Amino acid sequence: PAASLIDAHGRRIDYLRVSVTDRCDLRCSYCLPKGFKGFEEPAHWLTFEEIERVVGAFTRLGVRRVRLTGGEPLLRHQLPQLAHRLNALPGLLDLSLSTNATQLVRHADDLKAAGIRRLNVSLDSLDRGRFAAIVGRDILPNVLAGLDAAAATGFSPVKINMVVQAGVNDDEVEALAAYCMARGFILRLIEAMPVGDTGRNSAFVDLQQVVQRLARQFDLSPSAIELGGGPARYWQSQDGRFTLGAITPISQHFCATCNRVRLSVDGTLYLCLGQDDKLELRPLLRAGIDDQQLEQAIRDAIQRKPERHEFREQPGKIVRFMAATGG
Ligand code: GTP
Ligand code: 5AD
Ligand code: SF4
Repeated sequence: PAASLIDAHGRRIDYLRVSVTDRCDLRCSYCLPKGFKGFEEPAHWLTFEEIERVVGAFTRLGVRRVRLTGGEPLLRHQLPQLAHRLNALPGLLDLSLSTNATQLVRHADDLKAAGIRRLNVSLDSLDRGRFAAIVGRDILPNVLAGLDAAAATGFSPVKINMVVQAGVNDDEVEALAAYCMARGFILRLIEAMPVGDTGRNSAFVDLQQVVQRLARQFDLSPSAIELGGGPARYWQSQDGRFTLGAITPISQHFCATCNRVRLSVDGTLYLCLGQDDKLELRPLLRAGIDDQQLEQAIRDAIQRKPERHEFREQPGKIVRFMAATGG
């Protein structure tokens, strides 16, 4: 039987999120605060060779899905080359990317050719001024053009991530739903997690009611559809032409079925998005650890994976920003 990673709580870890940069061309307050200066120095970035080595070890240990994240992953020079190399690893079945789409017009074809099949794109508003206020830049037209390019290139599915914030964009969920419906995109509403010192300020919206409202309005029913192995729950229209997802880390967390860990750009393996438990892989890699030792170090770390986050109980606990962990 193939190897697999099972943690101390009986969860199978088969999904690795790989952050290729902690930089971003935007400044969404819940992810990367304006004026942030603590970026990782380039000497600490894992090289493509090092990333490939770590992902190779994970695939030998049973990981089947890899998602490239950031920061904004398209800021990493020659990202499609990395995607191409990862896609060639035996055992990897699903290579995906989370992006803000500001530069997607330029990169969509290369990413598709490199083997990326699924794209998740952040889009919190369709109003240009409001979007600029949320992300810190007047750039909505580029994002919408990027999404058109993604659709034309044939990524399937394209998922839209909308972090819903009270008084900021919670009046726009219907508009986003209509936009997605018209283009065949999946809309996913997300509750903001309190990370860093900005997440705490974002006005929390309990999505349970919002989803019920949209389900009534657009005639959607709960669906058991499996759409990528992430934490979202889905609702669908009868004809299957529209899918709505909800990611509810606060109002209904999904830690009991968690299947993932995260590799950050500096080679830190974060065992949980909402805890500080980690394994520093960079020193091991650069000290010349062999493949067997690497696999053992990963196995040992997985045994330490925390049971769950404590965003509700201790909202100020995690000071590292989402952009550093890799969304
Ligand atoms: P797929 O389901 O494979 O499409 O991906 P995904 O939804 O896991 O990835 P994406 O990068 O689009 O993340 C969407 C949202 O889910 C982001 O806000 C993530 O921070 C959040 N998220 C993803 N995985 C976890 C997790 O393990 N725990 C928590 N608390 N949030 C997560
Ligand atoms: N809480 C919830 N979602 C977040 N994202 C970034 N920061 C947060 C946060 N604090 C989401 C963005 C992006 C995805 C990868 O992570 O919407 O689409
Ligand atoms: Fe998994 Fe931690 Fe996310 Fe919960 S918060 S789903 S345990 S990574």
